[in-house]
Amino acid sequence: MQIKTVGVLGCGLMGAGIAQISAAAGYKTIVREVNQAVLDKGLGRIRKFLDDGVTKGKVTAEQRDKTLGNLSGVTEFGAMKDCDIIIEAIVENVEVKTAAFSALEAVVGAHTLFASNTSSLCITELAAKTKRPDKFGGLHFFNPVPLMKLVEVIKALTTSDESYQAMFAFSKSLGKEPITAPDKPGFIVNRLLVPYLLDAIRCYEHGLGTIQDIDNGMKLGCGYPMGPLTLLDFVGLDTTYYIANIMFDEFKDPMFAAPTLLKRMVLAGKLGKKSGEGFYKYA
Ligand code: CAA
Ligand code: NAD
Repeated sequence: MQIKTVGVLGCGLMGAGIAQISAAAGYKTIVREVNQAVLDKGLGRIRKFLDDGVTKGKVTAEQRDKTLGNLSGVTEFGAMKDCDIIIEAIVENVEVKTAAFSALEAVVGAHTLFASNTSSLCITELAAKTKRPDKFGGLHFFNPVPLMKLVEVIKALTTSDESYQAMFAFSKSLGKEPITAPDKPGFIVNRLLVPYLLDAIRCYEHGLGTIQDIDNGMKLGCGYPMGPLTLLDFVGLDTTYYIANIMFDEFKDPMFAAPTLLKRMVLAGKLGKKSGEGFYKYA
């Protein structure tokens, strides 16, 4: 199957990055948000990333303009009717995602592939709630999307080989290195990463060290590009909390249980970089 037009649901942290790399790869890309204000914020983030890229000499002004020319932002589902593939990158909640896929199904053609960028939800469950379980799969991108090379490609029990191959090839066409991951909560990377991040919060709660010392410990001692508490701020504490609950619900293993501090920080609106405060404060 030939993919010419790409839809992205959500222009938050992940949706903005996915829409950007899709447009940069030459696809006509339509990104949908819930209202104009959130959409403008997301599109602004894409413009800034591209402008910074020009300043750093990573992209030319011509490439930036071409990318922006391929990209349009909308607030209506109807505007996505001609998409050949739609990648969903909205809040980590099965009901919200299911409602969005239902709204899309009312407007798209029978051939359109659906993919979810979920971090932890069951792809087979999301697929089963649509009328195209054979044309549904997982495409798990990493944050920040334009810089991280990996995509996990996940086959639901119902995904056809043809749809899976099309999604794998599509990931490569975006300049990514896809790997095959199982339809198990957290796939491969989050299965390993999430317990580590949750443990870092528990260590801080139990007084093992200051925020800075825990981060510097892992950064300088192990060569990680970011300390775990910085990375949590960067991923979003709300998203991490939802992921932990979903993984704990499935595995019933305490290593996936959300630390009490994480829950309280989310309740207090300390969501990390996106809200201006998490473990650190941001200007
Ligand atoms: N346009 C183009 N290129 C850019 C750019 C821009 N606007 N901004 C930066 N770059 C390039 C830089 O030029 C640099 O390239 P070179 O390596 O060729 O020099 C590279 O990107 C790195 O940029 P910086 O040197 O400015 O920044 P850094 O070294 O501090 O790295 C980072 C930033 C890549 C984000 C790094 O800190 C990192 O890898 N952090 C960890 C991120 C991570 O773990 N992500 C996964 C999160 S978990 C997840 O996503 C899954 C989930 O479900 C929750
Ligand atoms: P985010 O909170 O930054 O953005 C979500 C966006 O979706 C918001 O802007 C919201 O307005 C929008 N939205 C909600 N309902 C919508 C709908 N029906 N149509 C269109 N837009 C809608 O969240 P995020 O960090 O981008 O995470 C999105 C998804 O990607 C989640 O499933 C998350 O688990 C996954 N993910 C996140 C990361 C990460 O590091 N943050 C990494 C990989 C995967």
